Amino acid sequence: MILTDLTKPIKKDLGRVEEKISNALKTENVFIQQMVDYLSHSTGKRVRPALAILSAKHCGKLSEETISLGAALEMLHVATLIHDDIIDNSSVRRKQKTLNFKWGNEISVLMGDYVFASSFYLMAKDLPKNVVSSLADTTNIICHGEISETFNRFNVDLSEDQYLEVIKEKTAVLFAASCQTGAMLAGGDKQTVKSLYHFGLNIGMAFQVVDDTLDFVGKQTKVGKPVMSDLREGKLTLPVIYCLTSATRAESKKLKTIILRKIKTTSDLKFLDLLLRKYDAINRSLQKARYYADDAKMALSSLNSANGKNEFVQFADFLINRDF
Ligand code: IPE
Ligand code: IPE
Ligand code: MG
Ligand code: MG
Repeated sequence: MILTDLTKPIKKDLGRVEEKISNALKTENVFIQQMVDYLSHSTGKRVRPALAILSAKHCGKLSEETISLGAALEMLHVATLIHDDIIDNSSVRRKQKTLNFKWGNEISVLMGDYVFASSFYLMAKDLPKNVVSSLADTTNIICHGEISETFNRFNVDLSEDQYLEVIKEKTAVLFAASCQTGAMLAGGDKQTVKSLYHFGLNIGMAFQVVDDTLDFVGKQTKVGKPVMSDLREGKLTLPVIYCLTSATRAESKKLKTIILRKIKTTSDLKFLDLLLRKYDAINRSLQKARYYADDAKMALSSLNSANGKNEFVQFADFLINRDF
């Protein structure tokens, strides 16, 4: 299943989300508008608005509010990406140069703030208090996650549990909130809202684990961002954590040294590759992603199957099988 097939039934709604985003970011300031236009040239997968729309549809009501929600969610996501690329020192995103690469860190911090603020303005204007409150809380948690991750740079003793907590905070909670608030706006009952929240949380975990394997095995032309960059930035992700916990003492010591010197040589790379293969670290990570995807599907069991439960299952399958 490819993404465009999955989102075909909601293509029109996603088109309205695009329009809403461009209106929300519109400004008379020529310089800011230039960056807004630049950002709109390459738009990403739009997974979070899609989840919000599917969740609202599942609960039987797609209103103008849902479109605002989709736009606000995507803008929130984009704001975190702008800041994330500064922190991660990334030069490419969505197959084009990052804002920080083109305009520098100072302007990009402020531009991230501009997009954040525009997202919250849209929420305040169009969405009910319970939804805004959930999204504000989610944003707080995302900040926690990004801060913990940055704090743990080059922590070669990072445990699997610590890693899982970080990805839950930086990524999974926004997937959860997208499903949850989509259902809330559509008047979904308590159980449905809760089930969709858990579905989102678990596919969000799977999504980030897959993303972290793509950093090792993905193609830059496909994923649209540089590969082999997490470890060089001191970010220990699941495949490396598996290597470190399975390796012999000597291997583990050597790998830690290599990480701390930022994988300088081809022989460093070769050694890393050797351990990844020896300990089957990519497959084991993907296995973990599938385990989360299964939990996500389990969370759907209380949903009414007449109302497009299948779309959620297909979405989960797409997210774990993706190569971009
Ligand atoms: C990238 O998210 C950041 C992560 C949480 C891994 P996406 O992969 O959804 O990025 P876009 O929106 O498609 O560019
Ligand atoms: C992105 O994390 C998560 C947020 C922006 C909150 P990553 O740093 O792992 O994502 P990419 O690889 O830059 O897309
Ligand atoms: Mg990051
Ligand atoms: Mg990053």
